[in-house]
Amino acid sequence: MAILEIRKAGDAVLKKQSEPVTKIDRTIKQLLDNMAETMYAADGVGLAAPQVGVSLQVIVIDDGNGLLELINPVIVSQESLEKGTEGCLSVPGVFGEVERYAAVTVEALNRQGKKVTIKGTGLLARALQHEIDHLEGVLFIERAQSIYKEQP
Ligand code: CO
Repeated sequence: MAILEIRKAGDAVLKKQSEPVTKIDRTIKQLLDNMAETMYAADGVGLAAPQVGVSLQVIVIDDGNGLLELINPVIVSQESLEKGTEGCLSVPGVFGEVERYAAVTVEALNRQGKKVTIKGTGLLARALQHEIDHLEGVLFIERAQSIYKEQP
């Protein structure tokens, strides 16, 4: 396992639409391992592959309830909006108020290539939407209604 360099806002890879994974091979499993290690080392709640310079639809999240590894994640249902504070490892030292769905259902593949359905509310719902945004080249600062330099 290895800790990867986290790309910062301004890096072109963060603005690209990422490609779906077509085959879950050793390279993808290694990417998942390294992304998890990088996320934990940076004390993050989630990390998307473009943030480590890989334009593929792969995310990892740990909202405190264990590691989720999701490949080709898609939001299939969503309900009610709520505002909350977000930050991002690619935009260090910046926080913002972002409106997100309070509950989402996401379908994805796990590292075994099995289809999984994740229902998230609260922080998990927010993290899922934030990380899936990364796969579409969107940063939270583009959605934020207000931006802070310190965590409120
Ligand atoms: Co982020």
